[in-house]
Amino acid sequence: MQAKIESIDAGAELLTVDWAGGGSDHYPWTWLRDHGEDEASLDPGTLQRRVDTFAIDPGLRGIDVQVAGNGEALTVAWSDNSPATTLSAARLAECAGRLPEEGTLSPDHPRLYWAAGSLPDPVPNVAFEAVRSGDSGLGAWLRNIHVYGFSVVTGVPATDEGTVELATRLAPAKQTIFGDFWRLSAELADHGDTAYSTQYLDPHTDSTYYHDAPGLQMFNCLEFDGKGGESVLVDAFAIARAMHEETPEHYETLSRVVVPGRYLEPGVHLRAERPPFRHDREGNLVQVTFNNYDRAPFLLPADEMAAFYAAYGEFHRRASDQDNWLKIPLRPGMTLIFDNWRCLHGRMGYVGKRVFYGCYHDRADYESRLRTVGAAA
Ligand SMILES: [Fe+2]
Repeated sequence: MQAKIESIDAGAELLTVDWAGGGSDHYPWTWLRDHGEDEASLDPGTLQRRVDTFAIDPGLRGIDVQVAGNGEALTVAWSDNSPATTLSAARLAECAGRLPEEGTLSPDHPRLYWAAGSLPDPVPNVAFEAVRSGDSGLGAWLRNIHVYGFSVVTGVPATDEGTVELATRLAPAKQTIFGDFWRLSAELADHGDTAYSTQYLDPHTDSTYYHDAPGLQMFNCLEFDGKGGESVLVDAFAIARAMHEETPEHYETLSRVVVPGRYLEPGVHLRAERPPFRHDREGNLVQVTFNNYDRAPFLLPADEMAAFYAAYGEFHRRASDQDNWLKIPLRPGMTLIFDNWRCLHGRMGYVGKRVFYGCYHDRADYESRLRTVGAAA
């Protein structure tokens, strides 16, 4: 899709652009000066802003506007005789919401939400060798994570080194109090957390007590000799969407009430808070946060508290419905990676031995790889 300017109308405070495909948008003069794409306004190498935003006179006006390049750009001459500003039609259209914004994640591969009746089958997967050997395999892995919220990788060496090699193909591991890479097994007593046990784990997101919870979580299965212990995934965005349609009052409550999370052990006291459903500036859901194990005590006025328990309970009811679960029995050679802002993860109880080696990835690092390698491959 291409944006083309049909005509313009210069007013006292705004420039109106009429688009060749129909419709029009309005741009304040100061905004146009601030968003110039010419060399004086924007560094052509780094795309960092060169305009001194804070020196722009709020009364600045465009005194002459020329449409150039057959409707693909415009040039504005200014009332204060500052150098003329050039902007592309594409930038104008993006900012007005007519084209995907440049930071949009994988616009050609929309997310597919899944729940009872629409569970991904077969489970999205890529081969370790493909991820390792080229950007096309890495891109396929990244797109699986974006589209489904998770991916399995097969043929991964069941070693610490194999885990590190796979993880760092995507991005550096994210450092937390658990280190950068960590071993997960009931035999370990490194941390007194429910994850280090054999019991059933209710689906949850990790790091509700970190302000920037990891975007991705990855486990490589090093050893399994026992019964049970399947990894459980739930698409919390699918649940949120269903709640938005079926119980909008509960959706609104979970978008508004700020819930604290905490993690305590000797010498550590982590704490952060956010609503279970967090949105971007356009109202799109961007992060689900849910971990009842790690919820910190909080008290609201009685009517708010009642609304919270009802909404939180409704979310939990849906997240605990096994029809909405994808159960993945991980075995040596298999790695599971999932979006910790979208999918809840849990674990069935087990007997025997189960050893995982894993890490987190930072959200921004993952998104950067998705925009570059994921889009190009
Ligand atoms: Fe967890």
